Amino acid sequence: MRILIVGSSGMLGSECKEVLGRDHELITPDRKEMDIVSWDQVIETLQDTSPQVIINCAGFTDVDACETEDFKVRKINVEGPRNLAQCSARFECRLVHISSDYIFDGQKTMPQPYFEDDTPNPLSAYGKSKMESEKAVRENSPYYIIVRTGWLFGINGDNFVKSIIRQAKGRKKTLLKVVNDQFGSPTWTYRLALQIKKLIENEGRGTYHATAEGYCSRFECAEHIVKKLGLKASVQPRSIKEVKAPAVRPKNCLLENRLLKKQGLNIMRDWKKDLDTFLEKFGDQIIKESN
Ligand SMILES: NC(=O)c1ccc[n+]([C@@H]2O[C@H](COP(=O)([O-])OP(=O)(O)OC[C@H]3O[C@@H](n4cnc5c(N)ncnc54)[C@H](OP(=O)(O)O)[C@@H]3O)[C@@H](O)[C@H]2O)c1
Repeated sequence: MRILIVGSSGMLGSECKEVLGRDHELITPDRKEMDIVSWDQVIETLQDTSPQVIINCAGFTDVDACETEDFKVRKINVEGPRNLAQCSARFECRLVHISSDYIFDGQKTMPQPYFEDDTPNPLSAYGKSKMESEKAVRENSPYYIIVRTGWLFGINGDNFVKSIIRQAKGRKKTLLKVVNDQFGSPTWTYRLALQIKKLIENEGRGTYHATAEGYCSRFECAEHIVKKLGLKASVQPRSIKEVKAPAVRPKNCLLENRLLKKQGLNIMRDWKKDLDTFLEKFGDQIIKESN
């Protein structure tokens, strides 16, 4: 298949490039070549390259900055996906759009997960923009696959796992205070890229949840990382209420991969297994890079 990946320099996009490039022909314009906000650039790229699938991994992803960057967030997270969806309809090619657990309010009692047909109620500007991005995609193309995910980690880009390693790696014992009342499923971008590949190759259609199996608090995840890598840090729990961040985050970020399972397509693994594999592969590299 010929696949256009947008946002291929980002954390998930770079992994999609690696994984899908093994079996498919890829087109991976950078932001200068194809800004999704520019209708002219989007349509020109589509005309020139005729992809069968577009994967949209582009986005304004700084959750706190979204609170004060209203104009930019709307452009990149809503108008961009709308442009892609209109082109997907016009050129009859499928569009895979990535959305987020932050479209939900996280008020469900733990450990009840969110399902694909639950009603969104975002708490933050980022969450609201992702909810609206989904609407823009659904309303403008019949050929969409929306993949909602959360708590991504990978070797490229900044993320929670790398940040914990960087803070904990010192020779002296560091104290890390990490929230123990926000829950989710740390999801490896590599696994998610494989899941996206599986969806594309099996004619997936509609809205899917795709996160790792099982769940933990941020605190449990940090403890797991420190133990696995034998780092000296001491991890202590604190409440999400103590964190002074501009954006409000949902407490319960659990997504059930119900549709993937129903269609026999779920290849997501237990978060601990994937995190262990990731740490074995990249732990030393991340420590060295942050020295
Ligand atoms: N990270 C998470 O935990 C998480 C959780 C749930 C959902 N998601 C969603 O997953 C997707 C990928 O997230 P990520 O963390 O991999 O993102 P990321 O690392 O921040 O990468 C974003 C990518 O988007 C590109 N981009 C930004 N604005 C663009 C524009 N106007 N036109 C074209 N490209 C543009 C960036 O290019 P430049 O580098 O050139 O700016 C970069 O390649 C996003 O839709 C995000 O909302 C992420």
